[in-house]
Amino acid sequence: MKTTAAATSLLLLATAANAHLTMWHPALFGYNYPNQSTDAVQNRNQNAPVAPLRARENMNLTAWFWRFADYPPAPGEFLHLPSEGEVVGEISCNRAFTSGGVPDAPRSPFACREEGPLHTANRFNKPPDAKYFGGTALSIAYESDVRKVRPEDFTIISVNATSPWANRTTYALPRLPECPKGGCLVGWHWIHQKTNGEGYGDEMYFTMYRAVVDRPGKKAKVGKGAVPKYCPGGGCVAGPKQPMFLFMKEGNNMDYKVVAAKENPTYARDYGFKDGAQKDAISGALGLAPSGAVLAAALLAAAFAL
Ligand SMILES: *[C@@H]1O[C@H](CO)[C@@H](O)[C@H](O)[C@H]1NC(C)=O
Ligand SMILES: *[C@@H]1O[C@H](CO)[C@@H](O)[C@H](O)[C@H]1NC(C)=O
Ligand SMILES: *[C@@H]1O[C@H](CO)[C@@H](O)[C@H](O)[C@H]1NC(C)=O
Ligand SMILES: *[C@@H]1O[C@H](CO)[C@@H](O)[C@H](O)[C@H]1NC(C)=O
Repeated sequence: MKTTAAATSLLLLATAANAHLTMWHPALFGYNYPNQSTDAVQNRNQNAPVAPLRARENMNLTAWFWRFADYPPAPGEFLHLPSEGEVVGEISCNRAFTSGGVPDAPRSPFACREEGPLHTANRFNKPPDAKYFGGTALSIAYESDVRKVRPEDFTIISVNATSPWANRTTYALPRLPECPKGGCLVGWHWIHQKTNGEGYGDEMYFTMYRAVVDRPGKKAKVGKGAVPKYCPGGGCVAGPKQPMFLFMKEGNNMDYKVVAAKENPTYARDYGFKDGAQKDAISGALGLAPSGAVLAAALLAAAFAL
């Protein structure tokens, strides 16, 4: 490939040590940071929304949850979520490498140009081991007002446990009801592991999007999420679950000094998340009875409650 000056500077930018990840889409809050998404000038080479949310920054809700609330997507831009279908996310360390990015930016099969920014604790340049990825997830809140929505209003609807890795990540969706007028708000989540050679561990990732549900499922209802629990030996939290919020000054639903004492929580089976569509987050959907395992866990929980 011919290397242009622009491509070379992009490469320098994207491989800088502070490069991290998000899912890019024109419906992302902060998509055109530091400018408004409606501005004529598009900042195609920008990485503000990929910045990790770190414990040492001791962030309040304004600083992390509403970080890009003043940078909404342009009117009419929505992440389209086909009920019982799938959505393909473009995970990258810079908008430059995505379809809304720089046309002649260098291409890579990875979510970034190389493995480092993926924080997967992998063996560099060797085949990846998916158990180190951490898993990324999408959540939804049936609320259009970014100033009204709160962390606990989000419910996880999809997990891709073998991400982040590829430059395209598929999220399978359960049956979803229609969004309110003005759309839903969606969250993208990732907590990378901190052992196996990974360096700084006390950080999470969260970005917000406007979304609509295409061909919504009748009668389906997204349940209010419970806080997930570490459950490698069984007894997982059954049914709808909240995203895992930790390391912040405000808005946490987990105490990281307890849950992340040995390893960070992950969007994977050992926190009760099945890889793919979170069907157990939905009630009233025909043919979506809780799976045997979920039912067994619920019965077990009921037995303990007696
Ligand atoms: C984009 O933002 C920068 C810095 O905030 C500002 O100087 C510039 O004028 C903005 N561009 C447009 C087109 O609004
Ligand atoms: C949140 O933190 C920021 C940055 O530290 C600070 O400027 C702001 O006043 C805080 N907001 C609230 C509501 O506490
Ligand atoms: C994404 O990865 C595929 C290979 O998996 C590659 O063909 C494609 O060019 C990559 N896209 C970008 C934008 O880097
Ligand atoms: C996760 O994303 C990858 C890459 O798009 C895809 O191959 C895989 O099927 C997805 N996993 C699930 C459970 O949807």
